[in-house]
Amino acid sequence: MISIKNVSKWYSTFQVLKNCSAEIKKGEVIVVCGPSGSGKSTLIKTFNGLEPFQRGEIRINEQSVSDSKISLSRLRTKIGMVFQNFELFPHLSITENLVLAQIKVLGRSKDKAISKGLKLLDRVGLKMHANKYPGKLSGGQQQRVAIARALSMDPIAMLFDEPTSALYTEIINEVLDVIVELAQEGMTMICVTHEMAFAKKVAHRVIFMDQGMIVEDNRKEDFFAHPKSARAKSFLAKILN
Ligand SMILES: Nc1ncnc2c1ncn2[C@@H]1O[C@H](COP(=O)(O)OP(=O)(O)O)[C@@H](O)[C@H]1O
Ligand SMILES: [Mg+2]
Repeated sequence: MISIKNVSKWYSTFQVLKNCSAEIKKGEVIVVCGPSGSGKSTLIKTFNGLEPFQRGEIRINEQSVSDSKISLSRLRTKIGMVFQNFELFPHLSITENLVLAQIKVLGRSKDKAISKGLKLLDRVGLKMHANKYPGKLSGGQQQRVAIARALSMDPIAMLFDEPTSALYTEIINEVLDVIVELAQEGMTMICVTHEMAFAKKVAHRVIFMDQGMIVEDNRKEDFFAHPKSARAKSFLAKILN
């Protein structure tokens, strides 16, 4: 479904991605991890056209993301993205947050968008908060709304960029549980996270990045049992302690 080949990217003279290649099949759950600054966020943002790159190719269902004929806003709706800091619109109610893009980008009717939005809000356990503003919700609740908002666009895959790293330990699981459920339903997803218990539970594969390179791309079992590179070994030793 997502194929990246020899992707390289520079910020002026600094090379942030170095020849990255990977294949992600429909229904696969990939966890991306690695030290801070290794290029994880930049890499996953290239998948839905949020970050341009200078070399290589990315194809989503056989369509190149660099193809000038395909609309980037359309592509972004096909691949949902959830960030560390929720990024809900603070001046809009939860319901308004959920329906805005459905109406503006997909052209859905208001009624249809509201009914879809509320159904997904119910699914993440927050229907009673439909009329509140994001500021009245906890971080974990806001993140669940952000997930519902991404799902309201009927994405073919979901990207998560450290979805729980801004949350207190006690509420991390309420967000991870929603993501685990999605994974179990067969959603294709790529999740940057350092929650290794989560990775062990749901990932099929783990991609480990360091200094702009994909250093390992392994089945989860192999990654945890026998990381190949010294860098992954030392990363795992640090994080598992
Ligand atoms: N807009 C930018 N301009 C210049 N350098 C950037 C920019 N965004 C990120 N970087 C650099 O690229 C590297 C990778 O960043 P990032 O993809 O955010 O890493 P990670 O998500 O693994 O922490 C870092 O060294 C960061 O400082
Ligand atoms: Mg990052």
